[in-house]
Amino acid sequence: MSEFLLRPMAAADLPAVLAVQAQCYRPDLIEAREALESRLAMDPQLCWVATRKNPADDGQPSVAAYLLTHRWNRETLPALGAVLEPPCCDAKSAVPPSLTWYVHDMAVSPMAQGHGLAGRLYDAACRAARQAGLRCSRLVAVQAAARWWRRMGYAPVALPAQDLARLAPVLAHYGEGALMMERRLDAATTGPAGLR
Ligand SMILES: CC(C)(COP(=O)(O)OP(=O)(O)OC[C@H]1O[C@@H](n2cnc3c(N)ncnc32)[C@H](O)[C@@H]1OP(=O)(O)O)[C@@H](O)C(=O)NCCC(=O)NCCS
Repeated sequence: MSEFLLRPMAAADLPAVLAVQAQCYRPDLIEAREALESRLAMDPQLCWVATRKNPADDGQPSVAAYLLTHRWNRETLPALGAVLEPPCCDAKSAVPPSLTWYVHDMAVSPMAQGHGLAGRLYDAACRAARQAGLRCSRLVAVQAAARWWRRMGYAPVALPAQDLARLAPVLAHYGEGALMMERRLDAATTGPAGLR
């Protein structure tokens, strides 16, 4: 049985999430608590953590990995580090096709990497996104993670030149080599079996 337990993220997890973020990202990609908090508040059911019992801390579970995702307008990119407002959408009506499942931040602490945790977190959040009616997903791959996202079914977004020009200033915040990627969520199951 896995030593890790997956569950939706809670606001109380944010200090531990920030600690994992600090271990996983180069300094220019680190976001403040307020930025992460605003993303969690938007769609808490789409944000997940993996915890494991920590013998050095009286056996209290500690956060080993997290995934922050939320609904977002397909036409724009959320600015890195910004405090976000939820996209406009009538909660009673079906999810409009203009909304995408934006996968903002996946991080697995170095001591927990290579155990398939990222794939498990992704599957859990993806199920919730599909239940919420979202049918496509976008993300910005950083730190050379595009290869990993390809394994989850993502491909680079092919945008008309004018859209690329419009998004370029926001994409620049994500640093050199950042790549916008997308996939459809039509299939009943998610993610390639190799990453479960
Ligand atoms: C990318 C990341 C989330 C993967 O987490 P993980 O739990 O180790 O991944 P999994 O165990 O599910 O998958 C491991 C496999 O992915 C591969 N992999 C891990 N990181 C990778 C990367 N950046 N690029 C390509 N492949 C990667 C491993 O080599 C391994 O391959 P194998 O199955 O052939 O041995 C983790 O490396 C991480 O947190 N990186 C730092 C933060 C980051 O860059 N996040 C992505 C931002 S877009």
